Amino acid sequence: MSKFKKIVSLGLAMMLGVSLLAGCSGASGKSGEVSTVQAGKLVMATNAAFPPYEYVEGGNYEGIDVEIAGKIAEKMGLELVIEDVDFDSIIAGVQSGKYDMGMAGMTVTDERKQSVNFSETYATGIQAVIVAEDSSITSVDDLSSDTKIGVQQGTTGDIYASDDYGESAVTRFKTGTDAVQALSTGKIDCVIIDNEPAKAYIAANEGLKALETTYVEEEYAICTAKDNEGLLNGINDALKELKSDGTIDAIVEKYINSEG
Ligand code: ARG
Repeated sequence: MSKFKKIVSLGLAMMLGVSLLAGCSGASGKSGEVSTVQAGKLVMATNAAFPPYEYVEGGNYEGIDVEIAGKIAEKMGLELVIEDVDFDSIIAGVQSGKYDMGMAGMTVTDERKQSVNFSETYATGIQAVIVAEDSSITSVDDLSSDTKIGVQQGTTGDIYASDDYGESAVTRFKTGTDAVQALSTGKIDCVIIDNEPAKAYIAANEGLKALETTYVEEEYAICTAKDNEGLLNGINDALKELKSDGTIDAIVEKYINSEG
């Protein structure tokens, strides 16, 4: 056997060993060499009050993440199952093996990376500030520790606002929708939340607008458990194909009007 062939077959044997190991690392379902929580299924945890990424319409889950996840599952030969949970319980649930992946317009942060793995990024987000149309807040510079800031609990908006203006300035809500509701009824002065959901909430509620100045830019990705490299690789392979064949762009365009 030539040296090259030997190396190749050694590599194959190692890969086989690794995939066998991955296949029996506790999870019960297996499809090819990818193991998932339930055989043949891809269980996605999300928080479906976050249009245009995930929301419920006519009893169905819809949105950019929902459609991309559907395509990923299809490519992996798995059936997509969606679990709608509190945003701040997604990472713990993925970590403990309750869900295969978290996909929820989730920002990649160094802190989260300590608990879960992140896929390649598939979208970018911006933290925006929503205020009442007649608000005295006209730019991010007007925010202070005296501002009543609403956020969705456990989101980057929550983390940054708490860091910058102090915990006592921040009111945490279960969903972005709840935060916007409180703003509409004058209970808080502003909501810090991702840009595209901000636009959707403003369109659905009268008397609100977003500040022109944005707060922070970030990247969205899918998170998976640290001990399931096989699943992460499968998701990344699918994402790569969906990016290069234009599927992701088409899905994003369907929900986000490029002028808006
Ligand atoms: N991008 C923000 C974060 O990762 C907010 C995401 C909220 N997503 C949701 N589906 N509610 O913290």
